[in-house]
Amino acid sequence: MSTGVENLAQLESRFFDEIQSVTSEDLLNRLKSQYLGKQGFISEILRNLGQMPPEERPKMGAGANLLKKKIEEECRTALEKIQNLKKEKKIREESVDTSLPGRGLAEGGLHPLTQTLQEVQKIFKEIGFSIFEGPEIETEYYNFEALNIAEDHPARDMQDTFYINVVAHRGHPESDTKQGRHSDLPLLRTHTSPVQAHVMKNHKPPIRMIAPGAVYRRDFDVSHTPMFHQVEGLVVDQDIQFSDLKGTLIYFLQSFFGENLKVRFRSSYFPFTEPSAEADIQCVICQGKGHKNDVPCRLCKTTGWLEVMGCGMVHPGVFEKAGYDSKKITGFAFGLGIERLTMLKRGIPDIRLFYQNDLRFLNPL
Ligand code: DAH
Repeated sequence: MSTGVENLAQLESRFFDEIQSVTSEDLLNRLKSQYLGKQGFISEILRNLGQMPPEERPKMGAGANLLKKKIEEECRTALEKIQNLKKEKKIREESVDTSLPGRGLAEGGLHPLTQTLQEVQKIFKEIGFSIFEGPEIETEYYNFEALNIAEDHPARDMQDTFYINVVAHRGHPESDTKQGRHSDLPLLRTHTSPVQAHVMKNHKPPIRMIAPGAVYRRDFDVSHTPMFHQVEGLVVDQDIQFSDLKGTLIYFLQSFFGENLKVRFRSSYFPFTEPSAEADIQCVICQGKGHKNDVPCRLCKTTGWLEVMGCGMVHPGVFEKAGYDSKKITGFAFGLGIERLTMLKRGIPDIRLFYQNDLRFLNPL
């Protein structure tokens, strides 16, 4: 064996020794250029071939090329190994520790207004009431006329009611009513009472219903928003009396606010009921005393009472408009505000808070 080829064997085993300690791409590149680069060992051998005895040249040349291939191959394998190790290390560092306790799902709750709506419906359903819905875009007829609300009633003023594109809708909006026809002037309903008229138009007595839903008025302050929610109630049959109204509403208010709650009925006026009343409950803050810890109660303004709903015996004119015989048929109606009930029950001081998307309103109770 010639010295040249022996040198090749030594070079090879030196390379394979050195590559064992290569742990990074940088070191690998350096080693590679030491052997295969332009100034590297292999190039040097090939450059020096010419100075060798001619009979040794082919063997030496072939040996050097073979070694070059082996080194290239080995460097490729080493590079792959280094890259794989790097990837595994990264995965290990970034991977999830499945033994850690989980963070848990953030639990949501129903909006307080939804909860109140559901509770009110549940209480009335349990005593035999059905649930009806009416349109939020109403006509002047259903919102006012069918309910005996006179044309000059302040509630019909443009300041309270959102009318819908009056001029585009018809040439002269008032003319139809004047001619004795129903006014179909569109508006956003200002209360849920028009559902009474829809239900009576489509059903014969006995009726025992509630109608929950959104209503709209041109108002905005601590106790008014342009959209809020009401629940209307209507009971129609023969021989319905004011005592039925009182019994039903006291039962409802005590179920909602608490068993021993005091309730009073104060005479009032609504165009669609006669007689009419406001139902008051004993103040939820001062428990009806007007003062709490010697401080005057601000919620009830020291009266000890809070107004919670309007009610009354259905006006004969409303029955007549519905096509009922007001001599045979009697009934009572009521209307309550869902926001107001919720504010009183939970001590929420400003109605606008309901609509500000504060996530705390959705925390589970
Ligand atoms: N619709 C009235 C309002 O929005 C509330 C109301 C009062 C409804 C008396 C009734 C009722 O059915 O009998 O202020």
